[in-house]
Amino acid sequence: MEKGLILWFTGLSGAGKTTISKVVAEKLKQRGQKVEILDGDIVRENLSKGLTFSKEDRDINIRRIGFVAHLLSRNGVVAITAAISPYKAIRNEIREMYDNFIEVYINAPLEVCEQRDVKGLYAKARSGEIKNFTGIDDPYEPPDNPEITCCTDQESLDESVAHVISSLEKYGYLT
Ligand code: ADX
Repeated sequence: MEKGLILWFTGLSGAGKTTISKVVAEKLKQRGQKVEILDGDIVRENLSKGLTFSKEDRDINIRRIGFVAHLLSRNGVVAITAAISPYKAIRNEIREMYDNFIEVYINAPLEVCEQRDVKGLYAKARSGEIKNFTGIDDPYEPPDNPEITCCTDQESLDESVAHVISSLEKYGYLT
């Protein structure tokens, strides 16, 4: 692949963005592709350290991630982003601003994410210990026309990963 791309994962906390993005990254590396992952949790420890989960700060976070993904992708890297990115308008802003933007909707019902509660944060959000938690007392706006959708309550990790890779092939991004 000569040109990189921005593989933009979006979805609720616990939907599977981080897990799928890591395996997709490995598969792409095996094919000789340069890959970098910008994961929300990690970005918020450095590039976006100090930002809150207000709409304003989430938008700043997403614009930063989009900008870095753009710098990487224009240098031939597949920049995989894995942030909740709950607001449609900002995702679409990134889509309009940069080339080769592929939106991957990691879709799992809130009930399923809450049931998984990998980090214990849904319980804290329900008890009121955490405010403005996406899906509980803060919005998540699903994409209207994502290039790729993975329904992680209905498919295995391997199936989701295979679906992402075959979709990239279908769109002509992988040979
Ligand atoms: S985003 O909205 O700005 O895209 P991001 O993906 O960076 O969010 O960070 C989300 C992660 O932060 C979640 O997976 C969770 O671990 C943690 N988190 C802490 N507080 C919140 C909150 N109020 N809403 C969502 N996620 C939160």
